[in-house]
Amino acid sequence: MTASEDRLLLGPLLRYVDETSAAVWVETDGPATVTVTRGAATASAPTFVVHDHHYALVELDALEPGTTEAYTVALDGDRAWPPTGSPFPDPVIATLEAGRPLHLAFGSCRTSVSHDEKGNRTHGVDALRAWALRVAGQVEPADASDADLDPDRLPDLVLFLGDQVYADETTDAMREFIESRRDIEQAPWTELKDYEEYAHLYKLAWSDPANRWLLSTVPSAMIFDDHDIRDDWNTSMDWRREMEATSWWHGRIVAGLASYWVYQHLGNLSPVEREKDEVYALVRAHRGDAEQDLGPFLDEFADRVDQHPQTYRWSYTRDFDTQARLVVVDSRAARKLDPDDRAMLDDDEAAWLDEQLRGDVDHLLIGTSLPFLLARGLHHLEAFSEALAQGAWGERGGRVGERLRQLVDLEHWGAFQSSFQEVARQVMEVAAGERGRAPSTVTFLSGDVHHSYVSEARPRRGGRALRSTVLQAVCSPIRNPLSRNMRFATAVLSYGVAGPMGRLASRSAHVPDAPLTWTYAEGPWFDNNLAFLRLAGPSLRMWWVTGEVLDDHDRPRLAKVESYALDEDGNPPPREGFASKVGRRVRRRAKDDSVRER
Ligand SMILES: [Fe+2]
Repeated sequence: MTASEDRLLLGPLLRYVDETSAAVWVETDGPATVTVTRGAATASAPTFVVHDHHYALVELDALEPGTTEAYTVALDGDRAWPPTGSPFPDPVIATLEAGRPLHLAFGSCRTSVSHDEKGNRTHGVDALRAWALRVAGQVEPADASDADLDPDRLPDLVLFLGDQVYADETTDAMREFIESRRDIEQAPWTELKDYEEYAHLYKLAWSDPANRWLLSTVPSAMIFDDHDIRDDWNTSMDWRREMEATSWWHGRIVAGLASYWVYQHLGNLSPVEREKDEVYALVRAHRGDAEQDLGPFLDEFADRVDQHPQTYRWSYTRDFDTQARLVVVDSRAARKLDPDDRAMLDDDEAAWLDEQLRGDVDHLLIGTSLPFLLARGLHHLEAFSEALAQGAWGERGGRVGERLRQLVDLEHWGAFQSSFQEVARQVMEVAAGERGRAPSTVTFLSGDVHHSYVSEARPRRGGRALRSTVLQAVCSPIRNPLSRNMRFATAVLSYGVAGPMGRLASRSAHVPDAPLTWTYAEGPWFDNNLAFLRLAGPSLRMWWVTGEVLDDHDRPRLAKVESYALDEDGNPPPREGFASKVGRRVRRRAKDDSVRER
């Protein structure tokens, strides 16, 4: 490794890319001028400092739409990327092109353990890395005739839907780092304490050579979920009070949000949004000044947006001409937790989302880390627990409801009924053509729940007729599988009587009917996996892939888990009977035998 390659600590991460611009993010070991060169285009940016860490965002513009060209990164004029002798193809920047069918990858929940037998035994194969190896042409697919395992081009974007890093459940490598700097017998024990530890956590997550190469060549967009901060983040007022009473929570939330801005959020922003961003204005004013550490400003910002979430927006929207609009919703930081006035989104955020949910595009894609349409049994249980906690069955029931809510993670959209009802109504209006031309689909993309599925929604009996197909697609985990017991519990709550029973329970607690109902079209399945979505006019196709170890743990092959496609007019496939669906599941090879029991 050359000296300048050594100086590139993390990245390059290829982040926001559109028809004519691209943003490349790096972390370096000290002050530097970072230059990105792609063909005739070149751009430089000096580093900025946050808590002694050095970063740069290099912004290329005036690029030709629909072109793919290799690029290099140099630090102070010396080439640092790609590394000499890299076994991976040259990293490229591919600009978007109006009208070209949009191709996305998405997924969530990825722990960063080793890629050897031990890591695969406890956490299964990293689906992101298995895909990276396949894209790099380094491993064979499980089925050479399956074009989905050998795509003709890279996706336009990989969307990470939460739990990109685990700040609470730390790995051996992370614990080693923590122990090297403080006593793990003291709070917050083996959980993350400050920015320095977050910087190390991100390094562990994005340093493996295959993933690092992939993230340098496929643009990414991200949104946090609970584990990026802590399990159950903002479940309820009781949860928040409990956290705020500890000695360590303030440090965690400040470090978690400050590092989230630097490592994840900054790269989500378009050039126009960067222009308006208050923190980026600070970065621009002080980059190149190695003496000016922006850490204290970032901390103050993080503290403020935690206490007053309406003062900043983590959510964002991407328009892909008239093909698709991708709305990515923050379903964690902007919650209203007052027990008498609970909401997934505060008033500002809810008004913003209301504005984004419009038609006049072929596909409306809504990214929310938490599935909007959860397995019906779980959804009703969550609605029931919220009603209980709010006193539908008196004070004692209230305590039971709160305990239940925290014990079994009952904190999805169903546990925030007013928000669920509101967004469901808005989506139905879009799908009925009441908010502009009805899209062919309205598709929620989600993660978090450690199982994957596709659900199709329809209006409740007597509701308005829909012109759009309304779908929920979930891809979770990329690498963090459920134990077998939890899989069983999830399956029970997903099938059979759980839906109607849950409905009965929530009705008994006076939970109002939703304007829509939904059923599984595919799933659930529990593999580590990564999902893909490709649009073609009114049609949409999705598929999920996983990594399989044959003999070499370091080189898993890529295999398909499941797929789902609308017909060419955008209509759902004919419904398969329950028996044949179960039969197909059983016939499919049992996966992840090596998966840990928790
Ligand atoms: Fe989560």
